[in-house]
Amino acid sequence: MEKLKLITKFAEKFISDKDIEGMSGRAVDALKILHSGSGAGKDFLGWLTLPTDYDKEEFERIKKAADYIKNNCDILIVIGIGGSYLGARAVIEALKSQNYNALAKDTPQIYFIGNSISPSMITQLLSICEGKDICVNVISKSGTTTEPAIAFRIFRELVYKKYSREEAAKRIFCTTDKSKGTLKALADEMGYESFVVPDNVGGRYSVLTAVGLLPIAAAGNDIDALMRGARMAQNELNGEDIKENDCLKYAAVRNCLYEAGKKLECFICYEPNMTMFNEWLKQLFAESEGKDGKGLYPVSCVFSTDLHSVGQFIQESGSNLMFETCVKFDKPADDFVIAAQDGNIDGLNFLSGMKMSLINEKARQGTLLAHTEGGVANIILEADAIDEETIGYLIYFFEKSCAVSGYILGVNPFNQPGVESYKKNMFALLGKPGYENEKEKLEKELGI
Ligand code: PA5
Repeated sequence: MEKLKLITKFAEKFISDKDIEGMSGRAVDALKILHSGSGAGKDFLGWLTLPTDYDKEEFERIKKAADYIKNNCDILIVIGIGGSYLGARAVIEALKSQNYNALAKDTPQIYFIGNSISPSMITQLLSICEGKDICVNVISKSGTTTEPAIAFRIFRELVYKKYSREEAAKRIFCTTDKSKGTLKALADEMGYESFVVPDNVGGRYSVLTAVGLLPIAAAGNDIDALMRGARMAQNELNGEDIKENDCLKYAAVRNCLYEAGKKLECFICYEPNMTMFNEWLKQLFAESEGKDGKGLYPVSCVFSTDLHSVGQFIQESGSNLMFETCVKFDKPADDFVIAAQDGNIDGLNFLSGMKMSLINEKARQGTLLAHTEGGVANIILEADAIDEETIGYLIYFFEKSCAVSGYILGVNPFNQPGVESYKKNMFALLGKPGYENEKEKLEKELGI
């Protein structure tokens, strides 16, 4: 069965056949570079074969650890930033709910922390943990990132306050490099169970490793099915014929729109539970493509919610700036029928007997026609249901399209040199040893 269908006709009317043909050739060249492992960032292609070529022993350990977490804690604290948290959160919210923590369930609450430096977030989570049994999964490939490192210091201390030394060690799980970094050294010294972020998989491509899989499994999701969906994508998205390979075609069409002058790609969904999935997409594309002065700036919207905030702008001023990419699901996780009401006081009886999902679909169709009428090109990815297989498929689809897009653009889709600049300044301003020379200069600039 086809997991995903790409519909480009609402975008192609804004680009010429000649442009698409030219871009198709470039997309095929980019795919060849990716498959041959000869392009920039070639040491970070492990995600390409991950759905088939993963550590099976570790996969079983992940399931066991998830069971331990489910059976022994009220709250799982997931510490990580960027690629070390977005994927897990995206999948959990897509498959369960944006309101996962408020649902009645037999799995623990999950809180994500260490993805900001907000004192409020940490203080609030500490108070949420009062009187609760907790486990911690700290995730950092480098093992040195400041935000998660600070959060881990604080929540590790909390675990040791609550439990004996031996018990505490059982409640902390580290996902990091197999041998390097402060976190790995700490895990080894303290006897925490460790999971590996493979050397050849970068942060934003790591959701199908222990980085994403442990929290996703702890939330009660079927990670075998998630991997199966990704495996389907791995098997299907290899062909060099653009008519047969949607991943290639998506990369080609979005690059045509970029070359036609669009500056933004707006990922849209009609399902609020996909909000964090869009956040994951934003990171994937922004960190992969946004370099050397190039790249589409990824933004996101949830409709119809945002039609009542930024919808006006998109309709009347969006055409030169942006295009939209919508992931649409045919079957929602939940549905109900609108009942007729006596008296029809609210005037809504014309909807009675209709499924809520149909009303949502009509909103989507109406918006699609309105926005394309307003000159905003639309790409649609049509999926069946929001389940583990489909989400696994989507993850792989977007990772591969992103890598192909990066090569079309002529950038290295697997590095993120720009992320270092703020860190350098922050360390200097904080007086970290080794940054002394910078401090004075930066403070002068800030006028402090
Ligand atoms: O995609 C990336 O590589 C980044 O977003 C990283 O995931 C992020 O910076 C966190 O890094 P680390 O896992 O080393 O703490």
